[in-house]
Amino acid sequence: MSVVILDFGSQYTRLIARRVRELSAYSIILPGTAPLDRIVAEEPSAVILSGSPCSVFDDNAPRPDAAVYELGIPILGICYGMQLLAERYGGEAADAGRRSYGADRLVVCQGGLFDGLDGPLPVWMSHATSVSNLPDGWAAIGATEANPHAAIGSADGCLLGVQFHPEVAHTPDGERILDNFLRIAGVARDWTAERNVDRILADVRERVGEDRVLLGISGGVDSSALALLLARAEVDHLAVFVDHGLLRQSEREEVESALRALGVQLVAVDASERFLEALAGIDDPEEKRKVIGREFIGVFREQAETHGPFRFLGQGTLYPDVIESAGGEGAANIKSHHNVGGLPEDLGFELLEPFRTLFKDEVRDVARLLGLPDAIQLRHPFPGPGLAVRILGEVTPERVEIVRQADHLFIETLRAHGAYYDAWQALAVLTSIQSVGVAGDERRYGHVVALRAVTSVDAMTADWARLPFEVLDEAAQRITREIPAVGRVVYDITSKPPGTIEWE
Ligand code: XMP
Repeated sequence: MSVVILDFGSQYTRLIARRVRELSAYSIILPGTAPLDRIVAEEPSAVILSGSPCSVFDDNAPRPDAAVYELGIPILGICYGMQLLAERYGGEAADAGRRSYGADRLVVCQGGLFDGLDGPLPVWMSHATSVSNLPDGWAAIGATEANPHAAIGSADGCLLGVQFHPEVAHTPDGERILDNFLRIAGVARDWTAERNVDRILADVRERVGEDRVLLGISGGVDSSALALLLARAEVDHLAVFVDHGLLRQSEREEVESALRALGVQLVAVDASERFLEALAGIDDPEEKRKVIGREFIGVFREQAETHGPFRFLGQGTLYPDVIESAGGEGAANIKSHHNVGGLPEDLGFELLEPFRTLFKDEVRDVARLLGLPDAIQLRHPFPGPGLAVRILGEVTPERVEIVRQADHLFIETLRAHGAYYDAWQALAVLTSIQSVGVAGDERRYGHVVALRAVTSVDAMTADWARLPFEVLDEAAQRITREIPAVGRVVYDITSKPPGTIEWE
C-alpha cells in the first residue's frame, strides 16, 4: 500500500512525499509520465499529481498515463495536477494572465478535504493557470476572493484538486488537508520506524538468501545502521572501510574503533594514493564524483578478489541521494551522488540498498531501533567523496591538508562551545580565491576558507545555522592563526535552496 506521487517537476514534490510520510503513510515519487505498470507495482491506494513549472497549454505539457484515471482510486491534484484533473474530466483551464505567487486566503472551504477546518485559511499559491469551468457534476469546495475554484471535487468526493500548495509550511493547515485526503482514500498509516525495520529485514533476507554481501562502510549513520541490519538479518557480510585520503582528521581511527566495538566484521583499506592520483588535474565536481565512485568500486572489487566471492555490494544510499542524482525522468540532476549517479556501468556486483527509499531522519529512527550508539547516530553527515567536494578546483595533497585542518578547528570550536549539535552539519570549504591581508607589518596573500553550518531535518532543504558570533569569531581566529596558508575566513549564509549544503 502506498501513495504514489506523480512528479511533473514542481520544486515542492519532495515536500509532498515527506508530508505524507509524516502522516505515517508510505509515499513514493515516480516520474509524472511513468507507465501504468510502474505505478501499479507500488500498489497505490491513492495518487497525488504534483505541481509543475509547465502549464497544461504548453506544447509538451507532461501528462500521466491515461490509465491512471481508470484505477478507481482517489486522486489529489495539486496546482498543475488540478488543471490535469479538470482537463481530463471535461472542465477547462484558463491562463490567469499573470503568475499568482505568495500568500492568499481561502474564504470558502467545505467538504471532507477541509474536515475540522474553518475559513478563512491562509494558503500558499504559485500558479499562472486556473480552472475556469468545472467538469460536469463537480463542485467548488474552496474559493479565494479572486478565484472561485481554488479547490474542487468530483461528485463522489474522490477526485480532488487544490490550486494552492498544502505541502508547504506557508499553508499552516496543509498537514490537516493532506491528512483528510489520506483518510478519504483509506490509506494505511503503517509507515513507522518499527515496521520499516521489519519490512527491510524481511526484504534483505529474501533477496540475499545464502549469498554474501560486501558492505561499503563509511562510519556514518547510514552505512553503520546497514551493518547492524545485515547482522540482525543474519546474512553473510564483510564491511570494507576505504580510507581515500579525503577523510576528516583522525576519522579512520575513530571509525575503526567505533565499528569494531559494535562487533562489525571490518577490513580497512588505505587507498589514499590511488584516489589522489586519480583525482589529479580534475576540477569539475561531477567529474570528481565519477572518478571517486569508480575508484571506490575498484577497491571493492579488489577486496572481493581477496575475501570473495560476493554477489551483492551493500550501500547506505538514501532517498535524497537517489532524487538528487535522478536526471532525466522529470527531476533535475542536482548532483550525481558518488554512490548513485557516479557509479561505473560495469559494476560487477548487484546493488543492495535497503535504505534507498528512506529520508535521513527515517534512517536515524531505524538506526536507533537497531541500537546504533548516539555518537554515530547524531554525527554530522559527511559526503562519501569526502573533502574532495569541499575543495573548489583541483584536489592536491596540500589543499586537502588545509581543508582538513580548517574543518578540524571549526568542529573542535563548535564542540568546545557545546554548539556541535546546534548544527545538523558543519564544514569548511577551501575556495579557489586568494585574498590580501596583513601579517605583522607584511602584506600577506592567502587562501579564503568558507565555513558553513546548517540546520536541516533530511538534507532536502536546509537553513544556515545562526551560530553565536563568539563561536564563529574563535573559529576564524584559530583557522587564520594555526593554518598559515589561510588569509581570510567567511561564513556562508545561504539556505538550501537556492544553495546546496556542500559547495560542489
Ligand atoms: P547537498 O550538497 O546536495 O548535500 O545539499 C546533501 C547531503 O548529502 C551529502 N552529499 C553527499 N553524500 N555522496 C554522499 O555520500 C555525495 O556525492 C554527496 N554530495 C553531498 C552532503 O554532505 C549533505 O549531507
